[in-house]
Amino acid sequence: MSQPEKQRAPRNRTLTLSEQERAGLSKRLMRPPLPSSVRELTDQVVCGDSLALLPQLPKAFVDLLILDPPYNLNKQFGSETFREMSLAEYESWFESWFPTVLALLKTTASLYVCGDWKSSTAIHRVLDRHVIVRNRITWEREKGRGAKSNWKNASEDIWFATISNDYCFNVDAVKLKRRVMAPYRENGQPKDWEDGLGGQFRLTHPSNLWTDLTVPFWSMPENTDHPTQKPEKLIAKLLLASSREGDFVFDPFLGSGTTAAVARKLGRRFLGIELDEHYACLALKRVELANDDPSIQGYAGGLFWERNTLNQQPKSSAPVVEEQPLLLEPPPPYRVSRSKTK
Ligand SMILES: C[S@@+](CC[C@H](N)C(=O)[O-])C[C@H]1O[C@@H](n2cnc3c(N)ncnc32)[C@H](O)[C@@H]1O
Repeated sequence: MSQPEKQRAPRNRTLTLSEQERAGLSKRLMRPPLPSSVRELTDQVVCGDSLALLPQLPKAFVDLLILDPPYNLNKQFGSETFREMSLAEYESWFESWFPTVLALLKTTASLYVCGDWKSSTAIHRVLDRHVIVRNRITWEREKGRGAKSNWKNASEDIWFATISNDYCFNVDAVKLKRRVMAPYRENGQPKDWEDGLGGQFRLTHPSNLWTDLTVPFWSMPENTDHPTQKPEKLIAKLLLASSREGDFVFDPFLGSGTTAAVARKLGRRFLGIELDEHYACLALKRVELANDDPSIQGYAGGLFWERNTLNQQPKSSAPVVEEQPLLLEPPPPYRVSRSKTK
């Protein structure tokens, strides 16, 4: 269904679709029946119902699965509404299709499953029955709404699991650049930190508590009107840690296309499925924009940066082999064409 144009502030960079763009993109979406070869499924955005399509996909072709299903909430996704159910019913719903998606994974594959506090316990129970659960990442979702008679909900979970003990994990690709609070020196030299033009920073090992993410909002070029869009920085961490260049990433609840756009930016192959045609078209548009601009907000110089360090970050997302002098200017304006907001 086409969505009415909203009035937006002049500096609002939210990615939108004109009627004409949508008509063009819609023709390029893949639709059922799906081809059976991995080659033909590569780098495609499918518009369709994953639960019906999963059994039609080839077996054992996926290196990394990103699962961001509807949480157990009443939520409108385009023309479809997901209805909240009991915890037990959510667990049964998840269990009803999860083994089908597992059949698509290689024995060396990793998977990440997103949830909030209401769905997370059910997800854990299902995962525990089928795969090796390795960790639960909790990330600070600082956009939560305040509540009068409850704690503000400002965190979400991502379960990390693998099919076997043979899996890839590139810890060096996901280190975090943090400001040094106590810049300790030994013989006058910084100990385990760098004294750069942009300040004093330390490279730290990534933990399972992520406080460096910003939920997309109107002034960010990655922002869309999707109600539960994940930050590109979050998905980039998952892809960089748990896949290699050229690996196949699958996302059966693609939404606005964050996984597909980040896969394109980081040189991974992908397949995404989304029920709602408007979101599927947005996903395709984001993949195309990624061809021209592979930058990921918060990831620069091959490193993830703490929030509010934009002025200290180098301009490029590409890895820096040698530490570069830190630049003080902000990055150049977004280069690719995008629908102008009113
Ligand atoms: C939590 S959102 C995913 C958001 C996504 N990670 C992003 O960054 O935009 C879940 C998405 O799954 C879609 N969805 C729900 N049921 C589906 C189904 N059976 N097949 C395909 N997509 C479905 C919804 O339309 C929604 O866009």
